[in-house]
Amino acid sequence: MAAKSLVSVLPLLCLVFVSIQTPHVANAHGISYINKICQRATRFNPAIKLDFCVTSLQTVPESYTTEIAGLLKITTDLALQNASRTSGLIKKMNSVACEDLTKDQLNTCLNAYTSAVSSLQESVQACAAKKYDGAKLGVVLDGAAQCEKAFENGNGSLLADENRNLRQLVTIAQALHRFATKYSKH
Ligand SMILES: *[C@@H]1O[C@H](CO)[C@@H](O)[C@H](O)[C@H]1NC(C)=O
Ligand SMILES: *[C@@H]1O[C@H](CO)[C@@H](O)[C@H](O)[C@H]1NC(C)=O
Repeated sequence: MAAKSLVSVLPLLCLVFVSIQTPHVANAHGISYINKICQRATRFNPAIKLDFCVTSLQTVPESYTTEIAGLLKITTDLALQNASRTSGLIKKMNSVACEDLTKDQLNTCLNAYTSAVSSLQESVQACAAKKYDGAKLGVVLDGAAQCEKAFENGNGSLLADENRNLRQLVTIAQALHRFATKYSKH
Protein backbone atom coordinates (compact mmCIF):
# COMPACT_ATOMS: atom_id res chain seq x y z
CA MET A 1 0.00 0.00 0.00
CA ALA A 2 2.77 2.38 0.96
CA ALA A 3 4.77 1.45 -2.13
CA LYS A 4 1.75 2.02 -4.30
CA SER A 5 1.11 5.49 -2.96
CA LEU A 6 4.77 6.37 -3.39
CA VAL A 7 4.56 5.35 -7.04
CA SER A 8 1.47 7.47 -7.55
CA VAL A 9 3.09 10.42 -5.85
CA LEU A 10 6.38 10.14 -7.74
CA PRO A 11 5.27 11.83 -10.99
CA LEU A 12 3.83 14.58 -8.86
CA LEU A 13 7.18 15.10 -7.16
CA CYS A 14 8.90 15.25 -10.52
CA LEU A 15 6.42 17.80 -11.67
CA VAL A 16 7.08 19.94 -8.62
CA PHE A 17 10.80 19.52 -9.15
CA VAL A 18 10.54 20.55 -12.80
CA SER A 19 8.38 23.54 -12.06
CA ILE A 20 10.81 24.72 -9.40
CA GLN A 21 13.83 24.13 -11.63
CA THR A 22 12.58 25.63 -14.88
CA PRO A 23 12.10 29.24 -13.81
CA HIS A 24 15.43 29.03 -12.04
CA VAL A 25 17.23 28.04 -15.22
CA ALA A 26 15.33 30.52 -17.41
CA ASN A 27 15.94 33.27 -14.91
CA ALA A 28 19.59 32.58 -14.13
CA HIS A 29 20.45 36.09 -12.96
CA GLY A 30 17.02 37.51 -12.27
CA ILE A 31 15.95 41.09 -12.01
CA SER A 32 18.56 41.74 -9.33
CA TYR A 33 21.31 41.17 -11.92
CA ILE A 34 19.77 43.68 -14.36
CA ASN A 35 19.37 46.11 -11.49
CA LYS A 36 22.98 45.67 -10.45
CA ILE A 37 24.33 46.20 -13.97
CA CYS A 38 22.11 49.24 -14.49
CA GLN A 39 23.21 50.70 -11.16
CA ARG A 40 26.81 50.24 -12.23
CA ALA A 41 25.98 51.96 -15.51
CA THR A 42 24.50 54.96 -13.69
CA ARG A 43 27.65 55.24 -11.62
CA PHE A 44 29.74 55.06 -14.79
CA ASN A 45 27.63 57.77 -16.41
CA PRO A 46 25.13 59.70 -14.25
CA ALA A 47 23.21 60.73 -17.40
CA ILE A 48 21.85 57.17 -17.46
CA LYS A 49 18.46 56.86 -15.79
CA LEU A 50 18.19 53.73 -13.67
CA ASP A 51 14.48 53.21 -14.40
CA PHE A 52 15.00 53.58 -18.13
CA CYS A 53 17.87 51.09 -18.10
CA VAL A 54 16.01 48.44 -16.08
CA THR A 55 12.74 48.85 -18.01
CA SER A 56 14.48 48.68 -21.39
CA LEU A 57 16.52 45.56 -20.60
CA GLN A 58 13.52 43.86 -19.00
CA THR A 59 11.59 43.99 -22.27
CA VAL A 60 14.03 41.41 -23.68
CA PRO A 61 13.74 38.01 -21.94
CA GLU A 62 17.35 37.03 -22.77
CA SER A 63 18.54 39.87 -20.53
CA TYR A 64 17.85 37.60 -17.60
CA THR A 65 20.21 34.86 -18.72
CA THR A 66 23.08 36.65 -20.42
CA GLU A 67 26.34 38.28 -19.36
CA ILE A 68 27.70 41.76 -20.10
CA ALA A 69 28.52 40.98 -23.75
CA GLY A 70 24.98 39.70 -24.27
CA LEU A 71 23.48 42.77 -22.62
CA LEU A 72 25.61 44.94 -24.88
CA LYS A 73 24.18 43.21 -27.94
CA ILE A 74 20.62 43.47 -26.57
CA THR A 75 21.02 47.19 -25.86
CA THR A 76 22.56 47.84 -29.28
CA ASP A 77 19.67 45.95 -30.85
CA LEU A 78 17.17 48.04 -28.89
CA ALA A 79 18.91 51.23 -30.02
CA LEU A 80 18.81 50.02 -33.63
CA GLN A 81 15.09 49.23 -33.44
CA ASN A 82 14.50 52.60 -31.81
CA ALA A 83 16.47 54.53 -34.43
CA SER A 84 14.80 52.62 -37.30
CA ARG A 85 11.31 53.35 -36.01
CA THR A 86 12.15 57.01 -35.45
CA SER A 87 13.57 57.21 -38.95
CA GLY A 88 10.23 55.94 -40.28
CA LEU A 89 8.39 58.43 -38.09
CA ILE A 90 10.49 61.32 -39.43
CA LYS A 91 9.66 60.32 -43.03
CA LYS A 92 5.95 60.35 -42.18
CA MET A 93 6.21 63.72 -40.45
CA ASN A 94 8.15 65.11 -43.37
CA SER A 95 5.46 64.05 -45.83
CA VAL A 96 2.84 66.08 -43.96
CA ALA A 97 5.02 69.05 -42.92
CA CYS A 98 4.00 72.36 -44.51
CA GLU A 99 6.59 74.86 -43.29
CA ASP A 100 9.95 75.01 -45.04
CA LEU A 101 11.69 75.35 -41.70
CA THR A 102 10.02 72.20 -40.36
CA LYS A 103 10.99 70.30 -43.49
CA ASP A 104 14.61 71.48 -43.08
CA GLN A 105 14.63 70.42 -39.46
CA LEU A 106 13.16 67.04 -40.28
CA ASN A 107 15.66 66.55 -43.11
CA THR A 108 18.52 67.22 -40.70
CA CYS A 109 17.03 64.60 -38.39
CA LEU A 110 16.46 62.13 -41.21
CA ASN A 111 20.12 62.39 -42.24
CA ALA A 112 21.23 61.95 -38.64
CA TYR A 113 18.95 58.95 -38.07
CA THR A 114 19.87 57.33 -41.39
CA SER A 115 23.53 57.31 -40.41
CA ALA A 116 22.62 56.28 -36.85
CA VAL A 117 20.79 53.24 -38.22
CA SER A 118 23.76 52.17 -40.33
CA SER A 119 26.22 52.71 -37.46
CA LEU A 120 24.02 50.65 -35.17
CA GLN A 121 23.64 47.89 -37.78
CA GLU A 122 27.43 47.70 -37.99
CA SER A 123 27.63 47.67 -34.20
CA VAL A 124 25.14 44.79 -33.91
CA GLN A 125 27.23 42.80 -36.42
CA ALA A 126 30.39 43.73 -34.56
CA CYS A 127 28.91 42.25 -31.37
CA ALA A 128 28.84 38.82 -32.95
CA ALA A 129 32.37 39.20 -34.30
CA LYS A 130 33.58 40.64 -30.96
CA LYS A 131 34.94 43.67 -32.81
CA TYR A 132 32.74 46.27 -31.22
CA ASP A 133 33.77 49.81 -32.05
CA GLY A 134 32.78 52.33 -29.41
CA ALA A 135 33.38 55.21 -31.83
CA LYS A 136 30.31 54.17 -33.83
CA LEU A 137 28.18 54.78 -30.75
CA GLY A 138 29.64 58.28 -30.54
CA VAL A 139 28.42 58.94 -34.10
CA VAL A 140 24.89 57.94 -33.05
CA LEU A 141 24.97 60.23 -30.01
CA ASP A 142 26.16 63.11 -32.18
CA GLY A 143 23.31 62.43 -34.62
CA ALA A 144 20.67 62.61 -31.90
CA ALA A 145 22.25 65.85 -30.66
CA GLN A 146 22.26 67.36 -34.18
CA CYS A 147 18.60 66.47 -34.62
CA GLU A 148 17.71 68.07 -31.29
CA LYS A 149 19.78 71.16 -32.15
CA ALA A 150 17.93 71.56 -35.47
CA PHE A 151 14.83 72.57 -33.51
CA GLU A 152 16.59 75.30 -31.51
CA ASN A 153 15.22 78.12 -33.66
CA GLY A 154 11.63 76.97 -33.87
CA ASN A 155 8.72 76.20 -31.63
CA GLY A 156 10.47 73.40 -29.79
CA SER A 157 11.64 69.94 -30.72
CA LEU A 158 9.25 67.60 -32.50
CA LEU A 159 11.48 64.67 -31.63
CA ALA A 160 12.54 65.38 -28.04
CA ASP A 161 11.37 61.99 -26.67
CA GLU A 162 12.88 60.06 -29.57
CA ASN A 163 16.23 61.81 -29.25
CA ARG A 164 16.25 61.27 -25.51
CA ASN A 165 15.38 57.58 -25.81
CA LEU A 166 18.09 56.96 -28.38
CA ARG A 167 20.68 58.84 -26.33
CA GLN A 168 19.79 56.83 -23.23
CA LEU A 169 20.06 53.49 -25.03
CA VAL A 170 23.36 54.39 -26.67
CA THR A 171 24.81 55.76 -23.44
CA ILE A 172 23.89 52.49 -21.72
CA ALA A 173 25.57 50.59 -24.58
CA GLN A 174 28.71 52.70 -24.08
CA ALA A 175 28.80 51.80 -20.40
CA LEU A 176 28.30 48.09 -21.14
CA HIS A 177 30.99 48.23 -23.84
CA ARG A 178 33.35 49.70 -21.30
CA PHE A 179 32.52 46.98 -18.75
CA ALA A 180 32.91 44.27 -21.40
CA THR A 181 36.32 45.46 -22.58
CA LYS A 182 37.49 45.87 -19.01
CA TYR A 183 36.63 42.22 -18.32
CA SER A 184 38.18 40.83 -21.48
CA LYS A 185 41.51 42.58 -20.82
CA HIS A 186 41.96 40.98 -17.41
C1 LIG B 1 12.65 53.37 -27.78
O1 LIG B 1 13.05 52.72 -26.61
C2 LIG B 1 12.37 53.14 -25.44
C3 LIG B 1 12.98 52.45 -24.26
O2 LIG B 1 13.21 51.10 -24.45
C4 LIG B 1 10.90 52.89 -25.58
O3 LIG B 1 10.22 53.34 -24.44
C5 LIG B 1 10.38 53.60 -26.81
O4 LIG B 1 9.03 53.30 -26.99
C6 LIG B 1 11.17 53.20 -28.03
N1 LIG B 1 10.74 54.04 -29.13
C7 LIG B 1 10.62 53.57 -30.35
C8 LIG B 1 10.17 54.56 -31.37
O5 LIG B 1 10.86 52.42 -30.66
C1 LIG C 1 5.63 78.63 -34.52
O1 LIG C 1 4.24 78.44 -34.33
C2 LIG C 1 3.45 79.48 -34.89
C3 LIG C 1 2.00 79.24 -34.50
O2 LIG C 1 1.64 77.90 -34.64
C4 LIG C 1 3.62 79.50 -36.40
O3 LIG C 1 2.85 80.52 -36.98
C5 LIG C 1 5.10 79.72 -36.70
O4 LIG C 1 5.31 79.67 -38.08
C6 LIG C 1 5.97 78.69 -35.99
N1 LIG C 1 7.37 79.04 -36.15
C7 LIG C 1 8.28 78.17 -36.48
C8 LIG C 1 9.65 78.73 -36.57
O5 LIG C 1 8.07 76.99 -36.65
